[in-house]
Amino acid sequence: MAEQHRIDCLYLSQEDLLAAGCLDLNLAMTAAEDAMLAFRNDRIMFPEKIVQIFDDDTQERINCLPATLLDERICGMKWVSVFPMNPVRHGSQNLSAVVVLSEIEQGFPIALMDGTLCSNMRVGAMGGVAAKHFARPDSESIGFIGAGEQAKMHLIAMKTVIPGLNECRVSSLYEHEERQFADEMGALFADIDFTCVGNDGRAAMDGADILVTATSAQAPLLKAAWMKPGAFYSHIGGWEDEYAVAAQCDTIVCDDWETVKHRTQTLSRMYKDGELTDDDIAADLVEVVAGEKHGRTSADERVYFNAVGLAYVDVAIAHAMYQRAEQAGLGQPLALQEQMIFEHQNLSDVIRM
Ligand SMILES: NC(=O)c1ccc[n+]([C@@H]2O[C@H](COP(=O)([O-])OP(=O)(O)OC[C@H]3O[C@@H](n4cnc5c(N)ncnc54)[C@H](O)[C@@H]3O)[C@@H](O)[C@H]2O)c1
Repeated sequence: MAEQHRIDCLYLSQEDLLAAGCLDLNLAMTAAEDAMLAFRNDRIMFPEKIVQIFDDDTQERINCLPATLLDERICGMKWVSVFPMNPVRHGSQNLSAVVVLSEIEQGFPIALMDGTLCSNMRVGAMGGVAAKHFARPDSESIGFIGAGEQAKMHLIAMKTVIPGLNECRVSSLYEHEERQFADEMGALFADIDFTCVGNDGRAAMDGADILVTATSAQAPLLKAAWMKPGAFYSHIGGWEDEYAVAAQCDTIVCDDWETVKHRTQTLSRMYKDGELTDDDIAADLVEVVAGEKHGRTSADERVYFNAVGLAYVDVAIAHAMYQRAEQAGLGQPLALQEQMIFEHQNLSDVIRM
């Protein structure tokens, strides 16, 4: 009888997820597309996130982001910390996350898992879905300002969508970061030529087919003159480009413009400064995924994509990873409890009053 009150859940480390083949941007993009369509069909519960900021200057924070996938009957939560000074102060990553997944039959947790991989893959996946519709399929060169974790995952996403990419130029504040980027990415992509250009945004971006900014800066680093006709730009960080970049783009697409406009991205700033209106936004990505709006229409079109992150997509990707890892028999089963509290025979020995 007591056995039926046992609650099991699966613990999945980042290494378990990698061993299960979860570093798969196609898996993440499919999960992201399905989740966006489900959200549009009211099949996702997505309450407000909870934010706790510990330092207004550095924006060190830990956020709690819940969402429920009604069709999968999965409720999840991403608990994510963002400490932008970590790379400089500690040589460690800026973002780390944990995901909890629960079923909603009895409401019990089924997984406790690393969320850093799925969080970074979500950023890459959204850029990848956008690139699928808006980058030129014959793109060969990609430029980065920022050489951190998001930049690396974005390169994997872009290469997944556009296998012909063969040239990558990277710029950041520190030479060692660029070298690390080139070494780590070079080990994955032997057919890409990497060039570290130093802290010279122009050398990284000028004339590239695809441009990515993924920095912790708050400054207009990317200049409009460097973005050639036909280029696709994925903007990941906060304020990273001069207003003229978006102003000259033919098409601006967001993951969710209503969310973007209340944040502090370049587009949000332009909106607040009266430099951009609702009418300037061509589409939310889901409208394109649903086939209601079109992707790129001409070879010369400049396209600007900005995603600020929709945590239900993280939960959907985490769930897809959990399923793959579980099928592969990876992870450690954890018993959260063997019995209900008062079924334990030894309570009189352990109770303290
Ligand atoms: N859009 C989203 O959904 C989303 C999700 C997660 C993170 N982010 C944002 O993405 C950005 C990058 O995150 P990360 O984890 O890769 O950070 P990171 O700290 O690993 O990397 C930041 C990079 O920016 C570079 N940089 C900072 N200032 C610069 C400057 N003035 N000129 C050139 N390069 C500069 C650094 O040298 C470093 O290479 C952050 O702003 C983060 O908040 C966005």
